[in-house]
Amino acid sequence: YTITVDPHAEGAAIGDTMYGVFFEDINRAADGGLYAELVQNRSFEYSTADNGSYTPLTSWTAGGTAEVRNDSGRLNERNRAYLSLAAGSSVTNAGYNTGIRVEQGKRYDFSVWARAESGSTLTVTLKDAAGSLANVRRAAVRGDWARYEATFTAARTSNRGRLSVASSGAAALDMVSLFPRDTYKGQPNGLRKDLAEKIAALKPGFVRFPGGCLVNTGSMEGYSEDSGWQRKRAYQWKDTVGPVEERATNANFWGYNQSYGLGYYEYFRFAEDVGAMPLPVVPALVTGCGQNRATDDEELLERHIQDTLDLIEFANGPANSTWGKVRAEMGHRKPFGLTHLGVGNEENLPREFFARFERFRAAIEAEYPDITVVSNSGPDDTGTTFDTLWQLNRDGDVDMVDEHYYNNPQWFLQNNDRYDSYDRGGPKVFLGEYASQGNAWKNGLAEAAFMTGLERNADIVELASYAPLLANEDYVQWSPDMIWFNNHASWGSANYEVQKLFMTNTGDRVVPSEASGTPDASGPISGAVGLSTWATSAAYDDVRVTAADGAPLLGDDFSGDASQWTHSGGGSWSVQDGQYVQTDEAAENTLVTAGDPAWQDYDLQVRATKKSGK
Ligand code: AHR
Repeated sequence: YTITVDPHAEGAAIGDTMYGVFFEDINRAADGGLYAELVQNRSFEYSTADNGSYTPLTSWTAGGTAEVRNDSGRLNERNRAYLSLAAGSSVTNAGYNTGIRVEQGKRYDFSVWARAESGSTLTVTLKDAAGSLANVRRAAVRGDWARYEATFTAARTSNRGRLSVASSGAAALDMVSLFPRDTYKGQPNGLRKDLAEKIAALKPGFVRFPGGCLVNTGSMEGYSEDSGWQRKRAYQWKDTVGPVEERATNANFWGYNQSYGLGYYEYFRFAEDVGAMPLPVVPALVTGCGQNRATDDEELLERHIQDTLDLIEFANGPANSTWGKVRAEMGHRKPFGLTHLGVGNEENLPREFFARFERFRAAIEAEYPDITVVSNSGPDDTGTTFDTLWQLNRDGDVDMVDEHYYNNPQWFLQNNDRYDSYDRGGPKVFLGEYASQGNAWKNGLAEAAFMTGLERNADIVELASYAPLLANEDYVQWSPDMIWFNNHASWGSANYEVQKLFMTNTGDRVVPSEASGTPDASGPISGAVGLSTWATSAAYDDVRVTAADGAPLLGDDFSGDASQWTHSGGGSWSVQDGQYVQTDEAAENTLVTAGDPAWQDYDLQVRATKKSGK
């Protein structure tokens, strides 16, 4: 092939914000992840409503009599559960993953809210199985709820630390916290340094937050006594600002408890700290992600529209405005400079969504005409919902549309030209979520190839972010992910390296080029696929699935059991010599799946012979 480049021709300008990151609290990306808090379930709000395996004492071990209560003795109306410790009793927290991680010589700030009408001495210890990790700290507690603090300096490094609080007298405890002093940019209530630094190293142009499905699922209502003290509601930004002890926890859509310690203020501050444009997404009152319903409650809709206007004031308003004051009191007098805001996520009910989107947009434009209000195009790259939403967005003169897709690597190779034919007169594209369903090298390569197509079309594709961003390896709901971590280490995937390559080397302008031909992107069916699913077709003979290095699918990691595999669309398959083999070569369009989800972590390959003439 010949590629012809005219260095003098002027192509589209590529904006500084072209590549960004999408943060969602999935895979424990916030608590036990980016949010640096080391104590799990610090305010005793975990419940079986969040996750069937939870109790209010999850991650805690009690010595003596320790009972979680939810009564009028609580710390405040939003932080409803608290721990009641009998005299001479204690509780010990196990943190996340293998435990609490401390590093030799580093400082850790302990704090607790405590109440002890008759007085008590709290003894706080940090240790692991090998013994003490820091000097013991004591605090004399007397009277009503008050906050007590102490600082530890770690004598040793450990990934298995345990934090214990023992009380000499009867006492109530809440918000038991241990925070590394060394957070990203030294911010209070801050972020875990290694993770934040890995994200910062991408030099993101924007940070989209807080989700995803997290945004537009669950109840759109606010706090309600009627629905019990553990409520599952959509992500509502006002729940997440102000003093941390007054932020209620919530049942996270992805199946666990979220503390909101990492809330809207911290998201804005993080975006600023990494030099990125903040891009929050609010619910459009049409729930998605499998919960398809649109609210007809006019009052509720109005309240959410007002909340969105208040959010803009929180971000951009002067320090003497109602919500600008809340921001200033949290420590940031200067506005955050919000310019873009998403309404809705992966909406499945196009007309219902668009009607409500227009209400949000009209209200925002009336007060803040400079804000770009981002719409969306449903959960897929194609289909009726996608087409209908795009048409509505075009007809409605929407500025920017959020697209999402998760496809196999081959799709990314085959769709490099996706945006070449997009209507230049229509809305701009925000590719808010995409990934090629794997963390193997070839996934990164397919994404890199695809990103050249994004960049070539930078006049229409203005923003793009890989998804999801983070995953704690012991709490995974969604894979692949860009950055992986546990309680003491973090590592970027091959996909991360690709993102970093593009994000830290973004050009100013496209240099138009032409190729004399295009490689055949219909293959390869051969080669490592690193996925649990493959499509085959009658164009191939002798289709076999093995480990990436050709090793048999046997032994500790792989089973020779054919029941571990499924196929659809016809064809016969069997396990032979540790390979999953298609025995009916006439079969057309067979979908093959490795049944055990754990196999998604392995690099597998499909080898086949292409029939001549096809
Ligand atoms: O990125 C994970 C999920 O994928 C997001 O929450 C949702 O928007 C999409 O379906």
